[in-house]
Amino acid sequence: MKRDFDVIVIGAGPGGYVAAIRSAQMGLNTAIVEKEYLGGVCLNVGCIPSKAMINASKFFHKANHDAAVMGFELSGELKLNMEKLNSWKQTVCDKMSGGVKQLLKGNSVTIINGDAQFVSPNEIEVSSSEGNKKYSADHYIVATGSRPIEIPGFSFDEKKILSSTGALDLNELPKRLIVIGGGVIGLEIGTYLKKLGTEVVVLEGSNSLFGGHVDKDCTQVIARKLKKMGVSVHLNARAKSCVDERGGVVVTADIDGKEKQFEGDKVLLVVGRKPNSDSCGLEKAGVQIGDRGLIPVDPQMRTNVSHIYAIGDLVGTTMLAHKASHEGVIAAEVIAGHNRVFDAKTIPAVIFTDPELASAGWTEEECKTHGHKDLKIGKFPYAANGKAVSLMETDGFVKIIADANTHVILGVHIVGPEASNLISEAVLALEMGAVLEDLALSIHPHPTLGETMMECAEAAIGHAIHIIQKPIANGNGASRSGHLST
Ligand code: FAD
Ligand code: NAI
Repeated sequence: MKRDFDVIVIGAGPGGYVAAIRSAQMGLNTAIVEKEYLGGVCLNVGCIPSKAMINASKFFHKANHDAAVMGFELSGELKLNMEKLNSWKQTVCDKMSGGVKQLLKGNSVTIINGDAQFVSPNEIEVSSSEGNKKYSADHYIVATGSRPIEIPGFSFDEKKILSSTGALDLNELPKRLIVIGGGVIGLEIGTYLKKLGTEVVVLEGSNSLFGGHVDKDCTQVIARKLKKMGVSVHLNARAKSCVDERGGVVVTADIDGKEKQFEGDKVLLVVGRKPNSDSCGLEKAGVQIGDRGLIPVDPQMRTNVSHIYAIGDLVGTTMLAHKASHEGVIAAEVIAGHNRVFDAKTIPAVIFTDPELASAGWTEEECKTHGHKDLKIGKFPYAANGKAVSLMETDGFVKIIADANTHVILGVHIVGPEASNLISEAVLALEMGAVLEDLALSIHPHPTLGETMMECAEAAIGHAIHIIQKPIANGNGASRSGHLST
C-alpha cells in the first residue's frame, strides 16, 4: 500500500528536526509534525534562551565589576531594562527557530503544524486550528521530548511558582528568588539572575550540588563561587510547602530534619524533567513504555515496533540536545538502510554556570568501577594560564584522568572559562582512544585557554612547565620530543 510519506517525524526539537533533515538529505519523502515551536524546547525555552540570558548577565556583571579594574570609568550607573533584555532574548530564539524552518524547507521536508496522535501503528491524526487530518508513513521517528516535573505542594502557575520556561521569560527582575533543585537548570538560571541583581536562595534535596552527579573537585569550585557571589545554598533541603504571603511566597523546607522557612517573591522549581511519552498516543501504535516513562530502544533507536523509532529526551540516558541530534541522525540513516548504531564512547555534558563546567568520559569513581584501579590524574589550574589571567577569569582547572599503565585517557573534567569549548578536544581524544602523550605532544597555540589541556596532560605525566611539579622517579615522564615508552 502506498503511504503518504516514507518517514514522519513527530516533534521538531533538536532530535526531530535533525532527523527530518538527514532523512530528506538521503532522498526519503519526509514530513515533520510540530504542535508548538520549530526547534523544540532547546531553541525556544531551553538551551538558546538560557545561554542568551547567561551571556547577557555575564556582560552586565563584567561591566559592573571588571571594567573599573581594567581602567574603564562609567560616568553613570549601568542599568538593566529587563523587558528589553527579555525581548532581545526572544529575537535570538526567533532567529534560531526561523533558521530551522528554512533548513527544513530547503531540504524539502513537509512541515505539518499540529498535534500528532497515533491512531494505529501506521497512521497518525494531526489536529490543528485548521481541523483534523490523517497521514500515513512507512516509518516514524518519535521525538516528543520532555517537560518539567512538579512536586507535591508546588504546581506551576508561571507567576509565583515558575518552571524554567517562566523563569526564562521574565519582564521584571524578581527581588528574591527561591530555587528548589540545585541541579543544572537551577544553578544556570539562579546564577544569571543573581548577576542581574536578584537575591537567590537554593534549596538542594541531596547532600551535594548537581545531586552529586558531577566530579566532586569541580563541584567545589562552583560551590565556592556561588558563595562568593552571595548565593545562599542549603543542601539536604527538601521543600515541603509553599504559601502566598504579603505579595510573595513562604516556602517551608525540611533541612537535615529541621523545618525552616524561606521568604521570596517567586519560586523556581527545577527538580528534573520527565519524558513526553504520553503525548502522541504511542499505546495505539503498540509501542512499549518503560521505567519512568522512558521509551526502550535498541542501539539503532528502534522501539519494540520495528518501523517506529524514538530519540532524544524521550529515551533518556542523558537529556541533552546534542545527544538527541546524534540519535536523530542514527534513526534516519538506519531507516535509509545504512548500518548505523549508537556507539559513541562519550556524551559530553556542559553546565553553563560561573565558571562553566564540562565533562567527557568517566569520573575517578567510574574509572574504578570499570576496572581501572591505578589512575594517573593531572590537574592544571587556569590561574597559570596567560589567557585566563588576561580575561580576569582564573577560577578553576582542567583535570585529566588516565589509566596509569597504558596512559589511555578515561575522563576529562573542566571547570573554568570556556570549558564548554575546550571539552570538544577531550571528546575527540576519548573517541580516538588517545593517550596522555597525544595531548601533551600536540602543539597548542599561545596564548589560549586550550593550552590548559596540553599542560594538564603534561602534568599527569609529571612535567607541566607552568606549575611546579615534584620530580617523579625515573626521569619525570616523557621527553618533550618523543613518546613515552610504556
Ligand atoms: P524537545 O526539544 O523537547 O522537542 C520536542 C518537541 O516535540 C516539542 O517542540 C514539542 O512541542 C513537540 N511535541 C510533543 N508532542 C507532540 C505531538 N503530539 N505532536 C506534535 N509535536 C509534539 N541541553 C543541552 O544540550 N545544552 C543546554 O545548554 C541545555 N539547556 C537547557 C536549558 C533548559 C532551561 C532546558 C529546559 C533544557 C536544556 N537542555 C539543554 C536540554 C535540551 O533542551 C533537551 O535535551 C532537548 O531539547 C531535547 O530534544 P528533543 O528533540 O528530544 O525534544
Ligand atoms: P537536574 O536533575 O539537573 O537537577 C535536579 C536537582 O533537584 C537535583 O540536584 C536533585 O537532587 C534536586 N531535587 C530533586 N528533588 C528535589 C526536591 N524535592 N527538593 C529539592 N531538590 C530536589 O534537573 P534540572 O535542573 O531540572 O534539569 C533537567 C535536565 O535538563 C538536566 O538533567 C539536563 O539533562 C537538561 N539541561 C541541560 C543543560 C545543559 O546541558 N547545560 C541545561 C539545563 C538543562
